[in-house]
Amino acid sequence: MLRVRTTTIVSCLHRPATRLLSTTNVLASQYKSLHNAVTLDDIAHFSSILPKSSILSTLPPINTPPEDLDSYNNDWMTRYKGHSQCVLKPRSTKEVSDILKWCGNTGLVGGGVPVRDEVVINLGNMSNVRSFDPVSGMLRQLVSCQIGGNVATNAGGLRLVRYGSLHGTVLGLEVVLPDGTILSELSTLRKDNTGYDLKQLFIGSEGTLGIITGVSILTPPAPNATSNLLLSLPSFVNVTDVFRLAKSHLSEILSAFEYIDRQSYDLVCRHTGKKALDESEVGNSEAFVLIETSGARKEHDEAKLEALLESLYASSGAQGLITSGTLSQSAEQFATLWSFRELIAEAASKVGKVYKYDVSVPIQKFKEVTDAVRSRVVEVLGYGHFGDGNLHLNIIAEAYAPVIDAALEPFVYELIGEARPVFGRYKGSISAEHGIGVMKAHALHYSKGDVSRAYMRRIKDVFDDRGIMNPGKVIE
Ligand code: MLT
Ligand code: ZN
Repeated sequence: MLRVRTTTIVSCLHRPATRLLSTTNVLASQYKSLHNAVTLDDIAHFSSILPKSSILSTLPPINTPPEDLDSYNNDWMTRYKGHSQCVLKPRSTKEVSDILKWCGNTGLVGGGVPVRDEVVINLGNMSNVRSFDPVSGMLRQLVSCQIGGNVATNAGGLRLVRYGSLHGTVLGLEVVLPDGTILSELSTLRKDNTGYDLKQLFIGSEGTLGIITGVSILTPPAPNATSNLLLSLPSFVNVTDVFRLAKSHLSEILSAFEYIDRQSYDLVCRHTGKKALDESEVGNSEAFVLIETSGARKEHDEAKLEALLESLYASSGAQGLITSGTLSQSAEQFATLWSFRELIAEAASKVGKVYKYDVSVPIQKFKEVTDAVRSRVVEVLGYGHFGDGNLHLNIIAEAYAPVIDAALEPFVYELIGEARPVFGRYKGSISAEHGIGVMKAHALHYSKGDVSRAYMRRIKDVFDDRGIMNPGKVIE
């Protein structure tokens, strides 16, 4: 599950001088030097665009207490700290556009933290549905922080295996570009083969190209029936076989297939004081999987699940695929089983400071990669979205410390990196779903080659030649 900040998704760096050069080769350091601190003039101007209730600023005449800006300046992992003095809460696309005309800028990777003193633009006041077609499932919405953040970060999550990525379900976007221009691509067409698909550039752009103010998206109907089961498996190698069986037995009703290693499972048990499976049954199991089904008819889904369970139990025993398992029998049990997967990140954050790596590797390599990292640092959790090849590595440390940074990087990236096949043993991605943010901007080359990065830079310059949108994020 990708956690998206519900408030700050876009920050706005300060109005630059108009003499800024537009060149494809402007370096990040040059961009930095072009930005000014927020001034009293800026606050006066924002006050002419927005009501006072939509402005938080430590500067006069607003004088918001600095602690009221804390939630915008700190990420939940407490790894990144920002220094913004101003948060703006526009209510409409026009207000966003007016702010950007003046400013002439915007998770888990520090992508939503104003690392310098950027202006934060919070879209919490904007949410409202413009239209919904129940037949096609087409929803058009003025974005909320949540949905804008989801689209801007291309949030993946627990059910991507079933519903696909936002690159497929988002049909249109409305985006305010850095100079205030409104790019209106709020199409609701499923098929539209008319040249470049500009909206795709903004999906996963992490607020570096423009501010998403509207979205039309294909929404599937909520399933009538859902079930889940948690299985313990003697060895990691069994996970792939169970996945294969789950796909063939459950077919279109398979909506999640999540992997939990032994360390992650034990941590959640300690954190919650609960056990999902009887300890004597779990024994020395090395891996756990959580399987969810979502369908239209309970009886139909149950029949499929029973067939899966039969074939899994037929394979259990001394050399079997599974050690034990439990199938939820009620909504409460359904939620409890999910909690053994969903609470891993929270449990980790209660134990210490967490280094998060979110990688795409071949599913057969999940354990090998986790063990390789374990050989360098002690406490490592390996879990994630097995169904779509997304492994989460959470390294728990007493504190964020240079010695741990050095043990992890560039080791993890070299292990995963695709653009450097000489080093990268796995043809993977250094970010499967969390994005690049500020944390991985320096490591982009492990997943994107020289040509790709050069074109990314050119695209950034086409939209944001002044480098005001979420500076320092994604591309340095
Ligand atoms: C999850 O799937 O639980 C999160 O994306 C992983 C994390 O927070 O590291
Ligand atoms: Zn995740």
